[in-house]
Order: sequence, then structure tokens, then C-alpha cells
Amino acid sequence: MKKYLVDDTEYYVRMSGSGPILLMAHGFPFDAQLYDPVLERLSKRFTCVVPNLRGFGSTKLGANGRNQYGVPRVKMGRYADDLAILVSEIQCQYKLRGEKIVLCGLSMGGYISLAFVRRRPDWLAGLVFCDSNATPDSPEKARSRMELADSITQLEIQNLADRTIQSVLAPCTIKNKPSVVSAMKEMIMRQSPEAIAAGSRGMAVRSDSTETLAQIEAPTLVLGGQYDALSTPESLDLIAQQIPNATRATIPDAGHVPPMENPDAFVDALLNWYDEKVVG
Ligand code: MLT
Repeated sequence: MKKYLVDDTEYYVRMSGSGPILLMAHGFPFDAQLYDPVLERLSKRFTCVVPNLRGFGSTKLGANGRNQYGVPRVKMGRYADDLAILVSEIQCQYKLRGEKIVLCGLSMGGYISLAFVRRRPDWLAGLVFCDSNATPDSPEKARSRMELADSITQLEIQNLADRTIQSVLAPCTIKNKPSVVSAMKEMIMRQSPEAIAAGSRGMAVRSDSTETLAQIEAPTLVLGGQYDALSTPESLDLIAQQIPNATRATIPDAGHVPPMENPDAFVDALLNWYDEKVVG
């Protein structure tokens, strides 16, 4: 992985391929490895930029991953600001300065992508909004995230991994793809309690992004797994209806994490949309 100085921390980033930048933001509590199964094909068309977000994987939380009392908390806007800094550095390095990017955000990465849209709408050639939503947490959900943040320890991460696998993967993935289940478990188990606490608190206080949807000018692919129980196909249909230039795709045989559960269908959907709506 390459290392970039971003604000007060070093971001570890998987870089591959050439062409326009495709920046991919992972979900919670994962890291860049979530996109590994789709990188080989996407790298033939894009400079794929896949960071471990602040605190996750090998990227340290940094002082700005804490609130004023030193408690781990990363708001969606902080992650989005980090991504803007990272993109600027990579654009300079790869001589792609001023060129628009495609941003792909999955679940928490989707929340971050809407914060990015509010900050840098003119940077986007296209947006891929995966298995996510635009509304804030209900009070109950926010409370349970705060409880998780307050109680998470190294020992508890195994339980979190087991629970997460059951809630995010499609039943057919759990039954038929043991290597995906074990890769996901390992990925969750290597996250630190403070990264999990920071992301959890950040998501709990995220703002309502519903109004942002109508302001997205870039062509947008709203994509989700057929069996995603967290961001259901119906909820993604509603989101797509609120985005002016949206295309909707459903990935068969996948739950909340299509790049791992059905990578070929994910890449097909992304490239078809890109060729038709972005390159046009
Ligand atoms: C994710 O995959 O990022 C999570 O499901 C997001 C969330 O907990 O809301």
C-alpha cells in the first residue's frame, strides 16, 4: 500500500491501474480490502484509489480523529475532507490535476460521499452510491451506536464480527462462499476498538443528507445487493428517484457488500453505467 500524509495522519492507500481516478470509500467496520475482488478489472479502466479510512486498517486515527475531549469520533465530514486532501495529492503525483473523479462509496462510504458532494460537487464526473442511505439514524439506532462505541474492546470485536456477518451478507453468500465469510471476518477482527468507536460515534451524529440528493449534478449510479437487508432495494429505488441523473442497478446474489459477494456483477454494473452515462 502507498502512504500519503493527510491532515494529521498517514493514509494507507491501495493504488492500481491508470486512467481517470476512481476513489472508493469502504463501509464500516471494514477497510480497503473490501474492494480487492473488483480491483483487477477496474484497474484496466481507472486509477483505482482505495484508502483505509482514518483509523481503519493501517491508517492511524490521529488527533483529529478525536473530539475536543480526546474521545475517538470521526464525523462523516472529516472523512470527506481527508478524501479531498488525498485526491489533491494523488492528482499532483499522477499529473491528473483538475481532472474530475468518480467517487464510489459503500454504506458508511456512501454517507461520506454525500458529505463530499456538499464540499466538492464540481470535482465529480460521477458518483456510485452503494448500499447506503441519506437519512440520519433514528434515536434508538444512534443510542446503540454510542453504546457500541463506549463498550467496544478487543475481546468484543469477535462478537461484532459474527453479528456483522449475519446482518450484512446475503444468506446465499454465507451458505455458498465460505472464503468471503472468512475474509470478512478477518477484516473486521483486525480493526482497532478506537476506529470502531470513532466511526460509530461519527455515524450516530451524521446529519440528514436527504436534501443533498437533489443537488447531485454528476451522473449517479445507485447500486445495491438484491438481498441487502440494511439498504433494501426499495429504499434505494426511493433514493434514485430523488437524484436528478440517477441510474439504478441491483446486484444479484449479494447482500450489503456486493464488491465481495458478487464482484463481477458489481464491475459490470459500474462499467456499463460509466460508459453510457459518464463517457456517454
Ligand atoms: C456499513 O456497512 O458501512 C454500515 O452498515 C453502515 C451503518 O452501520 O450504518
